[in-house]
Amino acid sequence: MSDTTANASKDISSVLVEERSFPPAAGFAAAARLKAEDLAELHRRAAADPIGYWAELARAELAWRKLFTQALDDSQAPNYRWFADGELNVSYNCLDVHLAEHGHRTAIVFEGEPGDVRRLTYRELHAEVCRFANALKARGIRRGDRVVIYMPLVPEAVVAMQACARIGAIHSVVFGGFSALSLKDRIEDAGARCVITADGGWRGGQVVELKAAADKALADGCPTVETVFVLRRVDGAGIQGAASRAATPMVAGRDVWWHDAVADQPAACEPEWVDAEHPLFLLYTSGSTGRPKGIQHSSAGYLLGAKLTTRWVFDLRHDDVFWCTADVGWITGHSYVAYGPLAAGATLVMYEGAPTFPDGGRFWQLCERHGVTVFYTAPTAIRALMKLGDAVPALHDLSKIRLLGSVGEPINPEAWMWYHRVIGGGRCPIVDTWWQTETGAIMIAPVPGVTTTKPGSCTQPLPGIFADIVDDEGASVTKPDAGGYLVIRRPWPSMLRTIWGDNERYLQTYWSKFQNRFYVAGDGAHRDADGCYWIMGRIDDVLNVAGHRLGTMEIESALVAHPRIAEAAVVGRPHEIKGEAVCAFVVCRGERPTGDAAAALTRELRDWVAEQLGAIAKPEDIRYADNLPKTRSGKIMRRLLRSVARGEAITQDISTLENPAIIDQLRG
Ligand code: WT7
Repeated sequence: MSDTTANASKDISSVLVEERSFPPAAGFAAAARLKAEDLAELHRRAAADPIGYWAELARAELAWRKLFTQALDDSQAPNYRWFADGELNVSYNCLDVHLAEHGHRTAIVFEGEPGDVRRLTYRELHAEVCRFANALKARGIRRGDRVVIYMPLVPEAVVAMQACARIGAIHSVVFGGFSALSLKDRIEDAGARCVITADGGWRGGQVVELKAAADKALADGCPTVETVFVLRRVDGAGIQGAASRAATPMVAGRDVWWHDAVADQPAACEPEWVDAEHPLFLLYTSGSTGRPKGIQHSSAGYLLGAKLTTRWVFDLRHDDVFWCTADVGWITGHSYVAYGPLAAGATLVMYEGAPTFPDGGRFWQLCERHGVTVFYTAPTAIRALMKLGDAVPALHDLSKIRLLGSVGEPINPEAWMWYHRVIGGGRCPIVDTWWQTETGAIMIAPVPGVTTTKPGSCTQPLPGIFADIVDDEGASVTKPDAGGYLVIRRPWPSMLRTIWGDNERYLQTYWSKFQNRFYVAGDGAHRDADGCYWIMGRIDDVLNVAGHRLGTMEIESALVAHPRIAEAAVVGRPHEIKGEAVCAFVVCRGERPTGDAAAALTRELRDWVAEQLGAIAKPEDIRYADNLPKTRSGKIMRRLLRSVARGEAITQDISTLENPAIIDQLRG
C-alpha cells in the first residue's frame, strides 16, 4: 500500500482524499489477533443473540468471585444493569490474574518530563497498589466512599485508581489542568471523603502546583474531605529541592505524604469483592447546559468493554509496548491507560509532560527510546506536530511502530495522511476510534488487519454495538451520505449507568429525545455506501477544543461572574490545531471598552476564565458589543454568532433580530 501519489501534492482536495481507502496490509492481517473470520463470527453471534453474546464474553474474559446468572436486567430501562448478581474486583482482574504467568513482565514504563524513567513490573505494580489500598483503609476509606484524584500523569495516578478499585472506593479523577474552583465543584458534587494529589507535576518545563490548588479548593468548602494524600513528585525529580518542600505546607491531621502513608503497609491487600454494578468511578464531563455531570460507570461491564476493545482495536499482545498519550483525567486515560491495557496484560507507556518539551521531537524520541509498537493519540496533537515538519520525526527511529490510533474528534484527512506516511512509514494501519466518556469504551472503529480504512472515517461499529443514524422522527437514515443523529439501539455493558446524583438529567440528556428508544450520543453523523460512519461533530452547544469537551454555558457563566461583564455568549470557530477555538461575545457593565482598554480587559478575562475553569477553557477571541443579537423572544442567536466568529457572510434570516445594527460591532 503506497500513498506517495496522494502526498506528492500538498493541496489534494479533501474530496479526493476521502475517496482513498486503505485495505489492511497482508502482513499485518496474517499476524493480527482477530482475523476476518473471527470478526465476522463475533458480528454473527451478536446479531443472533445480543445479550447471550455479551454474557459469553463476560464469562470468558473476566475473573468472577461469583458468576452472574442474568446478563441484562432491563426492568428499569434505560437504567440498564449488566451481570448484576455477579461479584468481582476490577483491580484483581487487572493485576492478580497476571501474577503467576506474567508477574515479571513490565506493566508500566514511565518517563517524567525532566527525563526520569521508571519501570514497574506487574508484580511491583500489584505491590504498590496493595500498599496504597491499605493506606486508604488505614484512613478509614471504605467501599462506596468517593475519592478525588488530582495528580500529574505519573504511575501513582494509576496506583491510586487501582487502589480505589481494590477496596471498592469510587474514584473521580479531576484533570490536573483544571482550576481550584473546578476541583472544588467536583469534590462537592461527589461528596468526596478523600483527595489524592501531589506537590506538583511537570508541564512544559514548569511546575503545576497541584497541592496549592487543592488547598485553595478545600479552603472554602468541601466539608466532606477528611484526608489529603500528597505525593512528592517535583521534589523527587531533584530540581526544586528544599524549596518545594517548604512550598508544600501540610495541614495537620488532614494531609499526609504518600510515602509516609505507605511506609509500613503490607504489599498484600485482599480485594473487596463488589457487585458487578458497583460504581467503579465517576468522571465529570461537560454538557450543553448546567454544571458538569458526573458520569457514573460500573465495575464489570466497564471493565469488559475496556479489556475487549483494547485487544480488538489495538491488537495487543504481551510483547507490545502500548502508548496512549491521554491523561488519566479524561476517559481515554481511564480505559486505555489505567484499566484496559492492564486487564489485557500489556506493557504501557506513560509520559508526564508536554509533547513539545523541550522540543517537538519529544513524542518521537519517547517512541524510539521505549520501543513503542502501538501509538494512540489525538488529532490536535497530530496537527500540532505535523506543523513542525517532517524533519523532526525523521530524526527518530519509528520503525517499531506497527499500529496507530486517533481519538477525540474527527481527524481531518490531511492529518490522517501525514500520520500514516510520516509516523507510520506508510505501513501502519490507523484506527480512528469514535466513543465518549459515556460509552466507556471504543464503539465505532476499524479492526486492524480486517477493516479497510478511509481517512476521516471511524469506519464501522464493533461487534455487539448497534449504532445507527436516525432522522428527527427517529427513523433510520438509509440513504448513503445523508446526515442524522448518531444513536445506539441496544444497551452495551460499558455504557454509563447514570449521572451521579441526577438520574433525571441522565434520562433527559441521553434518552428522552426519542422516547427511550435509543441512546442519543449528541453527535451528528452520516454513513457512506460501504456502511462507514463519518462523524460530523456535536449537534448541541458543546465545544470540542483540542479533543476536550467544553460546555458553552460553563464558559458563559464564568465570564458573567466577572464584575465587569453583564452578558456573554460563547461559540466555537474552527481552529487549525485545536479543532475548535472558544470565541466569546460579551457585553460590559458600563461603557464598551475599545483600543488598549479592550486589550487589557481581554487579558484579564482570559486569566479569569483560566482561574475559574482551567486554561483549556480560555477564550481565543473576546469581542465587545453593546448588545448580543437576540430574537424578539429573547433568545441569543447563536447561529448568527457562529457565522460572525468564523468571519462568514451572514446568510441567515435576521429579520427577527432586535437590533440589527450591532452586527457590525460584533464583527469587531
Ligand atoms: C466526543 C466525546 C472518547 C474519548 C475522547 C473524548 C468526539 C471522540 C471521535 C472520533 C470524531 C470524535 C465526539 C464525541 N469524538 N472521538 N474518533 N471521531 N469525533 O471523549 O470528552 O467524552 O467527547 O468527542 O463528538 O461525542 P469526550
